[in-house]
Amino acid sequence: MKQNRIVNLLTERSYGKVVEVSGWVRTRRGSGQLSFLEISDGSSMSNLQVVAEQNLANYQSEVCKLTTGCAVMVIGELIKSPAKGQEIELKAHELTVLGWADPEKYPLQKKRHGFEFLRSITHLRPRTNALAAVARIRSELNFAIHHFFKKQGFFQVHTPLITTSDCEGAGEMFTVTGLAPEKITSNASYANDFFGRRAGLTVSGQLQAEVYAMAMGRVYTFGPTFRAENSNTSRHLAEFWMLEPEIAFCDLAGNISLAEEMVKELISVVLHECTEEIDLFDRFVSKGLRDRLTMTVDNSFVQMTYSEAINELLRAKQKFEYEVEWGVDLQAEHERYLCEEVAQGVLVVTDYPKDIKPFYMRQNDDGKTVAAMDILVPDIGELIGGSQREERYDRLLAAMLESGLDPEDNRWYLDLRRYGSVVHSGYGLGFERFIQYVTGMSNIRDVIPFPRTPGSAPC
Ligand code: 4AD
Ligand code: MG
Repeated sequence: MKQNRIVNLLTERSYGKVVEVSGWVRTRRGSGQLSFLEISDGSSMSNLQVVAEQNLANYQSEVCKLTTGCAVMVIGELIKSPAKGQEIELKAHELTVLGWADPEKYPLQKKRHGFEFLRSITHLRPRTNALAAVARIRSELNFAIHHFFKKQGFFQVHTPLITTSDCEGAGEMFTVTGLAPEKITSNASYANDFFGRRAGLTVSGQLQAEVYAMAMGRVYTFGPTFRAENSNTSRHLAEFWMLEPEIAFCDLAGNISLAEEMVKELISVVLHECTEEIDLFDRFVSKGLRDRLTMTVDNSFVQMTYSEAINELLRAKQKFEYEVEWGVDLQAEHERYLCEEVAQGVLVVTDYPKDIKPFYMRQNDDGKTVAAMDILVPDIGELIGGSQREERYDRLLAAMLESGLDPEDNRWYLDLRRYGSVVHSGYGLGFERFIQYVTGMSNIRDVIPFPRTPGSAPC
């Protein structure tokens, strides 16, 4: 007999059909004669109700002893449910217990647990409604991203995880070494190490994506990135996923348009494909979520320059912890004020001071700012960071030297400006921050299956 997924049984509603289904017991209620089991197989938010009666051979010996978390296989007939609460139920002809879960020990007994507690059982938390819903939305978004870029004529490029260039220049690269732990001494030299020079885990695939954009026009890279950043906040991870398109013959305005179109399409997909999940988050995690997401899709993103943003902050009645003046980097509190109070929605801030942005961003004619863009969203702050790239050889070389980069080590990157250089742009979307935005989950540790943060890497 074919293994069925509950999501299909619930939508197809083939009343009268005898089917086999396997899953985990969410709840059991009943008596010595009759039991109602809520079964989940993870395929959807909704469970399948199984009705088991005392005529089953193992009714008293096993069915009556089933508790939350036990795994079962049921063969039975799909019938129209006579009771309220579900359209369809499965009348069991045969029920096999596949795996017991001792109710004295299994930690997921209560219906609702706090996310902080669930973080202490990373290996069991996907069995809860909320974490499974996050995982389904994450998977849906993953496919939607590839679909969106394929439609737009992009090619996916697999950029390396081990690299010798610190793209963002923030000194947050984890070192990768082939040296045995006892050989790592203060006088050990990278020259004698595996790659012959210092290598690390990538902080961004951008620089390598640029190589392929300069050959194939439109590319994107999407994968894990790593930052040894000691930020213990609800929006930082040491390992997170980043989506980075890189587009030749495209300036900052084109870059912003693509990002806006992409964000809107991805949200629309989730609103259409994950309705039950969005309902759950709207009801229990972030009231009004669906309306806010719909507003994001329906309205144009507000845009302002960094200088305008600073003026807004200087005019604000609110007191900020970090002082505001032209030249400072925007802190989360500033970003949130600008989105929530000024733009009342998504905000694109452009043309940041060059001193607070990486070397590769294109210098504006004022000599003080670069063609950068950050996309900020309420509650989270920075969701996307991007720019037009410096395509002029001399300017790029000067910016590299100013940032303390050795041009010899980055000859390959400079070469892109020596041979057929063109205007080009790109951006990076923090995938987990985007999932936070779409689900309303307040802590980034709850939207990645296995969070890595300072002092913590369970599983
Ligand atoms: O602004 P960032 O540092 O930009 C880059 O790395 C560029 N090279 C991207 C590009 O132009 N191709 O990072 C991009 C985004 C941020 O806006 C944020 O959403 C996310 O990545 N991000 C993090 N997400 C989780 N944890 C962290 N520690 C993050 N650091 C950045
Ligand atoms: Mg940034």
